[in-house]
Amino acid sequence: MIKNKSLISINDFTRDEMLRIIELAADFEANPNQRLLEGKIIASLFFEPSTRTRLSFETAMNRLGARIIGFSDVNATSTTKGETLKDTIKMVSNYADLIVMRHPLEGAARYASEQASVPVINAGDGANQHPTQTLLDMFSIMKTQGHLDNIKIAMVGDLKYGRTVHSLLMAMSQFNPTFHFVAPDELKMPEEYKTFLRDKGISFTEHRDMNEVLPEVDILYMTRVQKERFSDLIEYERVKNTYVLRNSMLADTKENLRVLHPLPRVGEIATDVDANPKAYYFKQAENGVYTRMAIIASILGVK
Ligand code: CP
Repeated sequence: MIKNKSLISINDFTRDEMLRIIELAADFEANPNQRLLEGKIIASLFFEPSTRTRLSFETAMNRLGARIIGFSDVNATSTTKGETLKDTIKMVSNYADLIVMRHPLEGAARYASEQASVPVINAGDGANQHPTQTLLDMFSIMKTQGHLDNIKIAMVGDLKYGRTVHSLLMAMSQFNPTFHFVAPDELKMPEEYKTFLRDKGISFTEHRDMNEVLPEVDILYMTRVQKERFSDLIEYERVKNTYVLRNSMLADTKENLRVLHPLPRVGEIATDVDANPKAYYFKQAENGVYTRMAIIASILGVK
């Protein structure tokens, strides 16, 4: 039952609940102006920069007829005077029917949901989870592949700090995927996620060379090296350009292959890929609006 439930980790939703969100997202894509939330107020609290997540959430809220309060610049809030996250959330709970929050610290969203008297949606907490990105990624996989089962997925780039790959790995594990992890040694998929896959009997391989996996995958999930998570910027400089996908590299890939990226990109997908019909990342970002409409409407119990 999704109504009144916080969405903090993708594991908070069952397989059936994820499928229900995807089904509803398709419904909202077909009919995006449904003012189901007239009279509701939603708080959009972004303690960390965002373009897509915040704007697609706020587009979703507007399309649903809700009103929005919040901030996108933490420096314009009383956090700068020393107000705690606990006090901020307790107070905003009294103003809004739902809180959408992005925060740089892992665990901040869970903590906020424990303080709040209204549901909280995690819009990304540090290197931990980004569950709404995962649901829009799954909607994108469903739309491009026609199903979610037995998909071969390559995850490329920053698999250590990339919260989107952590959430997607857990969600897709409900659908018997095969994963190919491509990363430099410094940014390999953390052991805890590999243990999770081993325990569930899900196949995965690890590589340093992206070309080894390109011919066999259905989904190529590129990621940005997360500069903001590095304590040592010299190490960031060393690994930042490890992978660059160029159009010529897609020549011998499967017909159904689609290139996904949560965006923003900073060089890991060359712009000559954009015109290739296999490039799906901008449509993927658009899918975020319909998916977030589905999530909000479900949690507020109007769908
Ligand atoms: N995909 C994503 O989270 O993008 P933003 O950081 O721009 O929100």
